Order: sequence, then structure tokens, then C-alpha cells
Amino acid sequence: MTITLNEQAIEILRKNDRGGFTVPTARLYPYQWNWDSAFVALGFATFDRTRAWRELELLVEGQWPNGMIPHIIFRRDDPDYFPGPSVWRTAGGKFPSGGISQPPVLASIVLSLLEQGGEGDAAKARELYDAIFAWHNWYHTERTPEGHDIVCTVHPWETGRDNCPDWELGLDRMAVDPDIDPYVRKDTEHADASQRPSKLQYDKFVTIIKAGRDLNWDQKRLTNEGPFLMADPGIHFILLRADRDLLKIAQTLGLDEHIGQIQKWIDTAVRASDYLWNDRLGAFCARDVRSGEISQGFSSASALCFYADAGTTEQRKRSVENMERIASKVQFMLPSWDPDADGFEAQRYWCGPVWPQMNHIISEGLAEQGEQELANRIRNDLASVIQQSGFFECFNPVTGAGCIGTDFSWTAAMWLAWATPTKMAS
Ligand code: DGY
Repeated sequence: MTITLNEQAIEILRKNDRGGFTVPTARLYPYQWNWDSAFVALGFATFDRTRAWRELELLVEGQWPNGMIPHIIFRRDDPDYFPGPSVWRTAGGKFPSGGISQPPVLASIVLSLLEQGGEGDAAKARELYDAIFAWHNWYHTERTPEGHDIVCTVHPWETGRDNCPDWELGLDRMAVDPDIDPYVRKDTEHADASQRPSKLQYDKFVTIIKAGRDLNWDQKRLTNEGPFLMADPGIHFILLRADRDLLKIAQTLGLDEHIGQIQKWIDTAVRASDYLWNDRLGAFCARDVRSGEISQGFSSASALCFYADAGTTEQRKRSVENMERIASKVQFMLPSWDPDADGFEAQRYWCGPVWPQMNHIISEGLAEQGEQELANRIRNDLASVIQQSGFFECFNPVTGAGCIGTDFSWTAAMWLAWATPTKMAS
């Protein structure tokens, strides 16, 4: 008997379950990752709502007193992963963790569970609400540099788009610290090195960790004084959307206390979007805050202005034109990096591959803003690559071949919650 893709996806989520939280994939990523977990909850919600909420509760357990929810929670040390807790050496939360955060999709995931659900879901959303508010507050205060209105990032890993060519602007400006400890990468033991970040990029990633450690993980200082400071359309638009969704959660649950503050964050972020506008390219792009230099390619994060309901009519029109240009170059939308820009590599992680969770939120935003045709293409293309290649971490946009991690949790979740034809029919 052949097992269906829906059954396979459920099996992957069960197999990657480590007792209430899910690893993205065995071995390569053996801990709980922040935005992975949030997306995974949508998958669990299609067959086990209690388990979906458990995923989010365990994610919030890793929160630091300053509000930050870290990008990885290390509940136990796994020598198969680098850099693990002995490298980060944080003491911020209940568990050892990474010392940076990740794109804050949690509020938006909670809102969708709340909207689909009943009274039990409202109670769960209420339990998480204060933690999410505190996390957003952390982004708006500790990750917003002095003298700027735009939320920023101090490490490419915080953006989730680790080695996107966007980050070369900031990485080029920083040197590798000669005092970083020698290290052995584990990712290239578990995955094809030609699909992963380079050695120089890793040296710089580790240099930023050392800078954070040297500052005792004082997050304000890391933002203002750290070696890397860029503004990311991914974090900016995801947080703007998440603030809008947090406001809806507050209104639905009758929680008035923070409504004025959340509205202020939204108003500031809407205005700050222009900081990321690259008029030459006609796209929202990453920008190095210290030099003011702006990136020159259309990334998948550029497409998130629709999801955030940001940008003028003209900015949205030019963003759609860029996506149409890109659609004529690849078979499967939407590549994580611009096929016409320097640094495009169809199989290398964030230099080109299509990412399931990005397709989901990009398509959702496009559909909400009336760009239904493009939204459908992005959804159908994800379904096609999964049908063709299976539940990989990401996919080559030219051939549809799967890249890097296999039996990947968020791919299974995005299939179950959104891309499967059975979902489309419902
Ligand atoms: C990795 O290890 O590749 C992760 O993306 C870091 O968060």
C-alpha cells in the first residue's frame, strides 16, 4: 500500500517530535528552532490541536527576562551540532540558548489558531499573549538602534536567511576576530557542503557570537556596538504583520492595556518601510545601517511587503514586476535570491532555493492584497516541488530538486496546513 503525502507529512512531524517540541530535522538541526516551531504548530493543528499549542508553549519557555525569545533552545547538549551551548555561553533564560532571536512569526501563528478554533484556543492564546507582547517590545527597543526607527539585526542567523547575498554588505565591513576559538563545523558532515554557507561566512558568524559573549549578551550594546548591523525586510515586514496580528489578538481577547503601544509600533514601522526601499531596483531590500548601503537583489523577503500590508501602490506594482521578471527565469517560484543578481546559486541555502515557509507567508500576503494569480503560482509551485522531490528543507528553483535537510518539519507542516491539494479543496 502506498502511503500518501499527507500521511508521510504526519509521520515526519511525529518522528521529529522530541516530547512536545519538534526538531527541524534529525542530526543537522537537533534542537528547537524558533520560527520552525511556530510554522510546525500549523501542521500539528491539522490533526492534533493540543500538540500544536504545546509546541508554542515550549518555545515560549525559552524566553529571556528581557523578552527575547531566542533562535535556538538547547534543552540538552548535542555534540552533533555546531555551535552548541558551550559556544554561545548564554545565561539569559531558563535553558541555555542562542544569544540572538529569529523572525517573530509567533503572533501570526497564534492568531490563525485562534481564528480557526474555539474557547480552548482563546485560553491558550491568552496564556501566550504577555510573552509575545514582551518579545515584540524587545525587538522595538533592544533591536532598534539608537537614532533609528527601523528594527535591525545583529547576525544573519537572526534573519533566518543565513547566507543570503543580502548580508554580504554587512559581513564585508567586519573582520574575522583572530581570537575566535578553533572550531569544527558539523553542518557539512550532515549536508552537502556546496549547499551550505562558506568557511569565511562561518568565521564571521562565530566572530559575532564572540562579540555577544564579550558583551555578556547585553542586547542593546550588541545592537549598537556589535560588528554587524543591518535592517532586514524579512524581520521588518514579519514584525509589522505580527504587530498587526497581536493587535487583533488583544482586541479578540478584550485585552486593552497594550493596544495604544502596539498601534504606535505599527505606525512607526509603516513609516520606516521607506528606509528599505531601493528605487533603482523597485524593491524593498536589506540595508547596512552604518554605511547606508542598500542591497541590489530581489530576495524572498522583498516580497513580504504584501504580507505586512506595507508600501505604496507604486512600490507594490514595482515589486510585482520584479516577481514577474523572476518568474520568467525559474521554473519554481519564489527563489530566495534574485536570479539576475550577483551571488545567485540555485542549490546553495539562501542564495536561490525556494523555502516552504516563505512561500506560505508570501502567498498569503499576495492573496490578501488582490494578487491572486501570483499567490496561486507560489502555492502551486511549492506543492509541485514537494510532489516531485519530497519533504526537503528547500528546493532548487530551476529544477525542483530537494536541497539540504530531508524529512523536514516545516515542509511537512506547510504541506498539511496549506499546500496539499486536499487543503486547497477545503
Ligand atoms: C544553522 O545552524 O544553519 C542555523 O541556521 C543557525 O540558526
